[in-house]
Amino acid sequence: MSKVNILFVGDVFGRTGRETLSELLPELLTEYDIDYCIVNGENAAHGRGLSMQCADEIFMAGADCITMGNHTWDNNDIYQYIDDYSVIRPVNFAEGLPGRGYIVLEDGPCPVGVLSIQGRVYMEPCDNPFESAYKAVSELRSRASVIIVDFHAEATAEKAAMAYYLDGLVTAVLGTHTHVQTADEQILQGGTAFISDVGMTGPHNGVIGMDRNAVLNKFVRCVPQKFKPSEGAGKLHAVFIQADTETGRAEMIKRISIEA
Ligand SMILES: [Fe+2]
Repeated sequence: MSKVNILFVGDVFGRTGRETLSELLPELLTEYDIDYCIVNGENAAHGRGLSMQCADEIFMAGADCITMGNHTWDNNDIYQYIDDYSVIRPVNFAEGLPGRGYIVLEDGPCPVGVLSIQGRVYMEPCDNPFESAYKAVSELRSRASVIIVDFHAEATAEKAAMAYYLDGLVTAVLGTHTHVQTADEQILQGGTAFISDVGMTGPHNGVIGMDRNAVLNKFVRCVPQKFKPSEGAGKLHAVFIQADTETGRAEMIKRISIEA
């Protein structure tokens, strides 16, 4: 049985996130003998969206594909490159918008499908994530046995429900968006790896990436604040997935958390 090794890196946040990724990713790719690296980059440009320059930095660091989320359209650059780059945005956005919701990566030991979906609980309106996921996975399965799903969602329950919904149909359902790495990684009965949230690659001394003073002012004094990314030492959060290339079943999911 041959295996494919995949690294999924949690939300890269601002300059600290990009620098942390560039510093730590090359070594991780070697250490885990990674065939494909997927990075969530929706917060890479100053905490909101992804400029072309930031996308280039993430690819230079070693990513094969960048996934997005609710901040997909926050940086106008995205319209210039989203149709040409290996950057995917949630599949359940309104029909006719630029970009794709999934992609098949093909340079490794087997093709790997990557699918981006956004949740609906405490999130902006979008199409039914479950129906959209099922339709996209049905299309992807004719092209790839190994499929990685980035479920960009707030509520743990919605993420767990998606994992059970897709169990046996995809290799992994990996939660993103909360920026807090959860300790619930597991492989479900059907062979689908799951974690509620992969976490954040960025500054961990703020409030989910943002400078804590502005956030505190907002919560404590209830006055509008302009947020800026926190600075200081960065930390990388990721998960390592090993899967069978033929069945697509996950054999291993391992949480990674490293300080820069
Ligand atoms: Fe998000």
